[in-house]
Amino acid sequence: MKHITTSSPLAMLGGKPACVTPTPDWPVFGREEEQALLEVLHSGKWWYGDRVRAFEEAYAAFHDARYGISCCNGSVALEVLMRSMGIGAGDEVLVPAYTFIASATSVLMVNARPVFVDVNEMDFNLNLEHAESLITEKTRALMVVHFAGLPIDLDAVRAFADKHKLRVIEDAAHAWGSQWKGVGVGTQFEGGTFSFQVSKNITAGEGGIIITNNKDTADLARSLTHCGRTLNGAWYEHRHIGGNYRLTEFQAAILLQQLARLEAQTRKREENAAHLNTRLAEIPGIHLQQTDARVTRRSYHLYMFRFVAEEFGHIDRDIFIRALEAEGVPASPGYLSPVYGNRCFQELRHVPGLRNCLHHAACAEAAVDYSRTHCPVAERLCSAQAVWLPHALLLGDQEQMRAVAAAIEKIYQHREALATATMT
Ligand SMILES: Cc1ncc(COP(=O)(O)O)c(C=O)c1O
Repeated sequence: MKHITTSSPLAMLGGKPACVTPTPDWPVFGREEEQALLEVLHSGKWWYGDRVRAFEEAYAAFHDARYGISCCNGSVALEVLMRSMGIGAGDEVLVPAYTFIASATSVLMVNARPVFVDVNEMDFNLNLEHAESLITEKTRALMVVHFAGLPIDLDAVRAFADKHKLRVIEDAAHAWGSQWKGVGVGTQFEGGTFSFQVSKNITAGEGGIIITNNKDTADLARSLTHCGRTLNGAWYEHRHIGGNYRLTEFQAAILLQQLARLEAQTRKREENAAHLNTRLAEIPGIHLQQTDARVTRRSYHLYMFRFVAEEFGHIDRDIFIRALEAEGVPASPGYLSPVYGNRCFQELRHVPGLRNCLHHAACAEAAVDYSRTHCPVAERLCSAQAVWLPHALLLGDQEQMRAVAAAIEKIYQHREALATATMT
């Protein structure tokens, strides 16, 4: 660790913070967004029109997909995609245990049953070996999440899906612009979904999109997001049980501008992450997310690493995060528990709707009990190891990245003093 520059005490112990530049604001917007919003306002055309279509086309093209169907958020996008693929009552869907709750609740919303799969320590993405051990005759699909924007090994997913004859859903809610072997994620299987909620790298406050190359999936997804209407049907003709999940023209206008900013922002995040990687790789107990060489672009929704207290020495993850924040670096431990650890899963005994399912007699017996689910890597990440830095930090300048790395090096250097000071 040749870079250590300060012998000043830790900020938590009365010293000066290593990082004094504030984290860049998020969301980023300018006159372009203002102008675009005003144009919509004055046009009087506020509803699901040309801008929504333009954004859908632009986003689909950006991800190398033929079709883009916008909707109100990334949670609904997952539900609509699964319904469009025919996933429903009686089906089991393999889902990573380490993800946002919506990856799994969306499966319940379509009356299917989520089966939790552990993640890999090296990249925090779904572990296919564990998935294999969970296959039953009801396993219908595999949902992968490109966690923090890092694509899962899609070649391995392809081999796995072919072997077990599974459909694949890509939850790409963190992966705007991420590419596997030069191709946008979300298109290698039947479809992918994205979120544009305010914490995301491209946002309109809320919003989502489904992308696919399959026309039937696209048509059904369009209908389901648009009250079950069909392309050539009459206005009050409803072919499917859908919902009103539409975007507004205001949202689309902002998203078009945000998309124009994304390329340069992604490049900057990648450059800054590369700088941090070089410095942090040298610190004992800091395990970076390993990126496969076939990942050709990565969104970096989070800069994430595993903190192994036994190797770092003296302090635990939560003290480390407090010390880091005192040094001026925003950090979080992320999820409190794997998805299944939430009360809504621990207390769940039947997949909602299954008891009333008219189509599958067998569904009546589809009881669930997640109290014995155990995914050790996901549990360790939540309780003791995960450290998340927000993507806005990666929009800082090189000086700020040097300061972030210096803050972590400083905590390592002073870990013994920190342990003594925080001992209860
Ligand atoms: C992995 C993942 N999937 C799905 C979603 C749901 O997206 P939204 O908040 O737009 O409903 C999120 C949101 O954070 C997410 O992180």
